[in-house]
Amino acid sequence: MKRTVETEWLDELPANDPGALGSRRDIRRLNWVMGNAGILHRLLRPESRQPAPKRIVELGAGDGLFMLELAKYLAPSWKNIEVVLVDGKPAFIEEARCGLNALGWTVEAVVADVFDWLKQPADGLADVMVANLFLHQFSDEQLTKMLGLVSARTKLFAACEPRRGLSNLFMSHTVGLIGCNAVSRHDAPVSVHAGFTGQELCALWPANGARLDTRTKRESSPSPREERAGRGPGRGAALKHTKDDTITPLPNPLPINPSWGEGTGLQPPLVPVSTCAPAIGNWRLRERPAQFFNQTFLAEREA
Ligand SMILES: C[S@@+](CC[C@H](N)C(=O)[O-])C[C@H]1O[C@@H](n2cnc3c(N)ncnc32)[C@H](O)[C@@H]1O
Repeated sequence: MKRTVETEWLDELPANDPGALGSRRDIRRLNWVMGNAGILHRLLRPESRQPAPKRIVELGAGDGLFMLELAKYLAPSWKNIEVVLVDGKPAFIEEARCGLNALGWTVEAVVADVFDWLKQPADGLADVMVANLFLHQFSDEQLTKMLGLVSARTKLFAACEPRRGLSNLFMSHTVGLIGCNAVSRHDAPVSVHAGFTGQELCALWPANGARLDTRTKRESSPSPREERAGRGPGRGAALKHTKDDTITPLPNPLPINPSWGEGTGLQPPLVPVSTCAPAIGNWRLRERPAQFFNQTFLAEREA
C-alpha cells in the first residue's frame, strides 16, 4: 500500500467548531483504545533515564489531554517537568493544565505552526520531544525538513503514529461503531493511508552518524521447540538482543527493502541515509509496529 497524504477535516475546521470538538473527543477515545500513552511510556522508559529531563515538548498536542495521560505514566519517575504543548490550533483546554499541574508539571501551551516553532532560535534544547498521531499528516518532504529541525533541538524523540496496512485500513472504516463523528470517520482512513510501515521514518531522519538499534533484531536460529520439531524459526521466535557498534558508510539514499520490519521485527542491517539537514551527533534509531494499530519511532542521541 503506497503512502498517500491528504488533508484531514480536523485540520481545516476552526478549533471551536462542534465537528472539531467532537473529533478531538473521538481522538481521546481512540488513543485509549489503541493504548498510545502506554506505548509512548514504554518507548521512553523513564525509569532508566535519570536524571529526569527538565523540558518535554509535544508537537501537534491538540487539546493537551494526551500529554496528561502520558504524564500520569511518566510523573512517578520524572518530577517537576516543564512541558511545552505546540499546536497550530488554539485547541488546548484548561482541564489538561489542571491535571498536569496536579502532577507537579508546569505547562506552556503554544499556538504555532510546528515548522515556525521549530525554526525559532532554541532557548535551550528540549530534553525530550514526542508526537502522537501527528507526523503522518505530512509528506515525506515535509517530514525530512521537520525531523531535521527536531534533531537539532532535542536529544530524544519518540513518536506513535498510525500503521499503514490493509487490516488497519479496514478497522479505520469501523470507527463509527464506537460513536465517532463524521469528521473522525473521514479522518481515520485518511490517517491510515498516510501512516507508516517498515523503516520509513528512520529513512527520513537526518544523516550523520545515525544508526539503527539492533536490539530487536530477530534471532536467525530456531527456538528449542522449533528445533525439536525440525523447523526453522517461526513468527513467535525469541528476539535476540544484539549490539552493533559499527557505523557503515552507505549509498545515499539507501534502497529500502519493503520486507524490513514488516510485522517480523526484522530491521535493515545498515543505516538509512536521507538527504536532509545534517543531524548533530550520533543517533540510535528504532522503528517498529506496536499493538496492531501503531508504528513507533524512537531517535536517541548518543552521548
Ligand atoms: C490527530 S491530532 C492529534 C492531537 C494529539 N497529539 C492527540 O493525540 O490528541 C493532530 C494535531 O496536529 C495539529 N497540527 C496539524 N498540522 C499542524 C502544524 N503544521 N503545526 C502544528 N500543529 C499542527 C492539529 O491541529 C491537531 O491538533
